[in-house]
Amino acid sequence: MAVIALKSPDIEVRVVDMNEKRIAEWNSDTLPVYEPGLDEVVRTARGRNLFFSTDVDGGIREADIIFVAVNTPTKMYGVGAGKAADLRYIEAVARKIAQVATGPKIIVEKSTIPVKTSETIKDILAANGQAGRMQVLSNPEFLAEGTAVADLFAPDRVLIGGERTPEGQKAVETLASVYARWVPRERIITTNLWSAELSKLVANAFLAQRISSINSVSALCEATGADVDEVAHAIGRDSRIGPKFLKASVGFGGSCFQKDILNLVYLCQRFGLPEVAAYWESVVKMNDWQKARFSSRIVSTLYNSAADKRIAVLGFAFKKDTNDTRETAAINICRDLLAEQAHVVVYDPRVSEAWIRQEVLGAGVENARLTVAKDPYEAARGAHVLAVVTEWDEFKGLDYTRIHESMAKPAHVFDGRNILDLPKLRAIGFRAQGIGKQEPQA
Ligand code: UGA
Repeated sequence: MAVIALKSPDIEVRVVDMNEKRIAEWNSDTLPVYEPGLDEVVRTARGRNLFFSTDVDGGIREADIIFVAVNTPTKMYGVGAGKAADLRYIEAVARKIAQVATGPKIIVEKSTIPVKTSETIKDILAANGQAGRMQVLSNPEFLAEGTAVADLFAPDRVLIGGERTPEGQKAVETLASVYARWVPRERIITTNLWSAELSKLVANAFLAQRISSINSVSALCEATGADVDEVAHAIGRDSRIGPKFLKASVGFGGSCFQKDILNLVYLCQRFGLPEVAAYWESVVKMNDWQKARFSSRIVSTLYNSAADKRIAVLGFAFKKDTNDTRETAAINICRDLLAEQAHVVVYDPRVSEAWIRQEVLGAGVENARLTVAKDPYEAARGAHVLAVVTEWDEFKGLDYTRIHESMAKPAHVFDGRNILDLPKLRAIGFRAQGIGKQEPQA
């Protein structure tokens, strides 16, 4: 949770969290998340007008604006299990604010939440004697990992939803004036509360839908001899379609897309719209299929048996320039290959060995068939397959001649991100396949 005290002309930001270890990390030289440019932002502002603290109560009391940025994972129990958002942390924060706050506050929902969650917050505040003093706004976050700092400095838009009452509009204006310090006014969109809440889910659903659409086309390309990158380029030149988010891949990952779509699906079901729910659910199903398709292509290429063969997996993060591994396609791919009794050797420049093991196997579970290499060359040595799962830039510049020499023959490359020069790899001697590209006939 971040609390902001508006001490005009200055703003003081205090990030408060009950987790002492986390706060200690934010106060140290090694921040708990890797994000290009973040170190510099924190280094410049920390101790000046940015503070990290475990004093949650004090933070709430002194704040003018409270950003609620807690986890809203998919609920894994009871009604809505596997789809609905688990709102227990949001509720706990609302209760905490109700208990501690002594003056008026603007409460800003930053976490991604189902539509109408602000009602829950307002209800808890009102039932605890805080009605009238608090304004609840929805200000969903659209930044993407790996480019979070750049997105923050130059957002396409900032969205602020508030109640259509004079007090609500005043709160919207207060928050808008904070953003207006660096965001042009015409990029700050104001809406009612429900529109803002829904727009967040819909934006992610649309982005994910584009990826599932192009991934579905990738399968057709492999079958027909069309090239998915060429198709994406051709359709993306239509200004109504646009070129972004049309990169075929092993499947999307990350903490947001799947969770938000399932949340949307659950909302549709709850509001009696099963056809709409099924439509959006198919985006997730297509993604699951794409991930499974990648592993099964590897196995079928290995004469239908990956057993005891070494397979090098390059990249584990859900995309480049982040160490985040939530819902990464690499987890499914490693598990599928381990189930085929392969020896899986993973290399990722940012993800630790312990974390890779935990993500693939589960906490405390051991499997000697899964190992983690220190560099891509070690991963590839003796391998039958080199599978690129994350599009790290460093994978483009590897010495593939050296890698080819060290691998078992035939040496296969599966480029799950279409970042490698396949004809060049074939000239070295590899049997190289991409996503949505037919292998040349021998
Ligand atoms: C996504 C949205 O892009 C942000 O706008 C949003 O704020 C964020 O979720 C969130 O809700 O917090 P993020 O998950 O960080 O951001 O990363 P993306 O760049 O959207 O990538 C998501 C996944 O899609 C990655 O696995 C990426 O490799 C994959 N992807 C992306 C493709 O496979 N093809 C593409 O063309 C683009």
